[in-house]
Amino acid sequence: MTAGTQRKLNPSVNSQDTKLLIQQFSRKVVGQSAATQVLTDILESFRAGFGESRQPVGNALFLGPTGTGKTYVVETFAEALFGTKEACLRIDCAEFQHSHEIAKLLGSPPGYLGHRETHPMFTQERLDKYHKDSLKLSIVLFDEIEKASDAVWNLMLGILDKASLTLGTNAVVDFSKTIIVMTSNLGAREMSEKDIGYGVPSEEYAAAVLERKALSAAKSKFSPEFMNRLQHIVMFETLTETQIEAIVEMELKAMEERILNSIVLRVAASPNDAILFYVAISPKAKKTLATQGYDPAYGARHLKRVIDKLIQRPLAKLYNSGQIQDKDTVVVDDPGTGTFDFYTHPSPTPVISPTPMPSHTCDIRCYNSDSVKICGH
Ligand SMILES: Nc1ncnc2c1ncn2[C@@H]1O[C@H](COP(=O)(O)OP(=O)(O)OP(=O)(O)O)[C@@H](O)[C@H]1O
Ligand SMILES: [Mg+2]
Repeated sequence: MTAGTQRKLNPSVNSQDTKLLIQQFSRKVVGQSAATQVLTDILESFRAGFGESRQPVGNALFLGPTGTGKTYVVETFAEALFGTKEACLRIDCAEFQHSHEIAKLLGSPPGYLGHRETHPMFTQERLDKYHKDSLKLSIVLFDEIEKASDAVWNLMLGILDKASLTLGTNAVVDFSKTIIVMTSNLGAREMSEKDIGYGVPSEEYAAAVLERKALSAAKSKFSPEFMNRLQHIVMFETLTETQIEAIVEMELKAMEERILNSIVLRVAASPNDAILFYVAISPKAKKTLATQGYDPAYGARHLKRVIDKLIQRPLAKLYNSGQIQDKDTVVVDDPGTGTFDFYTHPSPTPVISPTPMPSHTCDIRCYNSDSVKICGH
């Protein structure tokens, strides 16, 4: 054996594909890097093919407060890999609180009432539906597992153990190319305002209390057999004010894309009616969206609804009633009255112009070009 040069290796370096995936994640998910890390690590093992062949590719339990992204992260992972969040087969355990409901997952055995009518959710075809040549991987999400009936628990244990499941028809579904993620907000509900709200000594303190409560709630609710089969337990963090503001920006961008898409369709149908307008949202209005859209008890769940109520629906009315004209900049500001003010400026140039605005309007001179939402039609 010839003596070669010693090379130090670095297992923390990601593959090119994973680097791209993480980039895509960071455009959609704020924070929660532990969850991203776990999912990408499982993916790297799968790509290398080093895992056990008779077990799922990997499993993880996501714990943490409501509205912090547990479900969203898994759906975003599926979307980043396969172009659609439908690629994540989501089982809402709240729909399976009674043992007989398991027939929806497995189908009824031959001879039972409804045998032909029930189309089980867990067929091999359904599981493999989004496989592509470059990635034959499935993603299954058992959402809110604390609500599942014992029948679903047994089924989950079997899948985690042997990567297989026998349907009512006796067909066997193979889960060996599947990532299983389970979510629960156990423990988080018991968190009081004093644990996560004002006056908490530090974010680290709140995170430590949360972790302790969630883990002890999980241990007392879930059986030791189940806890022993878990490969990763990820604690989701309570979102900080800065993170909520970042989510506001993302949601506004998503709104902009939705409007733009609808406008592109209209242009295709009737090019002469096409108008282009811009939307500039004031920092004060964004702050209000962040405050109203977030609640420590509900996370960022209401943010979309608040944006819809305060901006998207009023914009739709202004647009439909012909009040927005071609090349208008629609400025959105919060006067502090509960609804937002909308006013137009004839061209987008004021956004970067030093011209002072009338005193009743917000100061749009402070906008950078990033804060100008461009919606063409
Ligand atoms: N970290 C995050 N980054 C970006 N958006 C987020 C994040 N967390 C929450 N959101 C937004 O809030 C919505 C609700 O999040 P999600 O459904 O994932 O909550 P959850 O943690 O699963 O809550 P629950 O325990 O009640 O099921 C998402 O659809 C997304 O729009
Ligand atoms: Mg959820």
